[in-house]
Amino acid sequence: MKEKISEFLKETEAFKAENLEQLEQFRIKFLSKKGLIPGLFADFKNVAASDRRDVGQLINTLKKSVQEKIISLKSSFETTTDAEASGLDLTLPSTTQLGSRHPLSIVRNEIIDIFSRIGFTVAEGPEIEDDFHNFTALNFPKNHPARDMQDTFFIETDPDILLRTHTSSVQIRVMENTKPPIRVLLPGRVFRNEAISARAHCIFHQVEGLSIDTDVSFADLKTTLYYFAKELFGEDTKIRFRPSYFPFTEPSAEMDISCNICGGKGCNICKYTGWVEILGCGMVDPNVLEFCNIDSQKYTGYAFGMGIERVTMLKYQINDLRLFFENDIRFLKQFQSS
Ligand code: DAH
Repeated sequence: MKEKISEFLKETEAFKAENLEQLEQFRIKFLSKKGLIPGLFADFKNVAASDRRDVGQLINTLKKSVQEKIISLKSSFETTTDAEASGLDLTLPSTTQLGSRHPLSIVRNEIIDIFSRIGFTVAEGPEIEDDFHNFTALNFPKNHPARDMQDTFFIETDPDILLRTHTSSVQIRVMENTKPPIRVLLPGRVFRNEAISARAHCIFHQVEGLSIDTDVSFADLKTTLYYFAKELFGEDTKIRFRPSYFPFTEPSAEMDISCNICGGKGCNICKYTGWVEILGCGMVDPNVLEFCNIDSQKYTGYAFGMGIERVTMLKYQINDLRLFFENDIRFLKQFQSS
């Protein structure tokens, strides 16, 4: 019986199947109810007691080797059929696939570039913030309704810690650590508890600007933003300011640009008004300067903040904000940059 089993073992090792049908025949031959292995187990009762240990081990080895053979041949068939079915030739040499920059990075870099030409440097701050930097020092008193303007993600175990709702928090960090004159641009990711739609997302990006010096005026703010809008959207771009409210600036404004799609004539992007809103801005509230130990009698400043997604959508006429986060290669590869 031992020789018989050794023969079967050799046969198993040497076995090759050209297709699944042959493999199934092999399985039936060895493992089916009336197959060779159940037959060996049935004959086992006739084996002399002194041989039982060896013979038992041999039969088990054979069974294991048959099972392993079947598994390995089966998986080799599956991979080849999958590759064949999808038309993939895995033996072809690879073509070089160059990546492209994400549209949000392209626009962020362009904004940084435009402002760096007029003396702005770049700084960053933490995404996980405390209440002081995100709200209190920006002149949002505790329990003030203005805090509801931004639906905040708090850390459950500590209500003092939150995900920053805007990059204005970095203004505070810069002013705490730098003596005026200050001219900085603060790009970063921000978080709000908003339902995801074509126009909103719970994670998005902003760029904040801050300029503090002696004698900084609203006229400086207007000139700077006018320059920026022309650089980013083209020489013919017009701007207008509408009065607004932000706790950290006084006076505050929102800035519109003439619609870059229809040139101000009216279209569905600008809702037939000829204007689209792109940012919030204003003169830094003296309370904010004092929170950061900057003498508000001596210094004044302006600040502005814009959503990078919004600016990018206008610049490239993208109508669904979710496209930025889905990483669909067909969308991304339309944006080439140096
Ligand atoms: N932080 C504001 C927001 O997220 C945007 C903003 C408005 C920033 C006015 C500013 C500003 O610096 O002066 O809605």
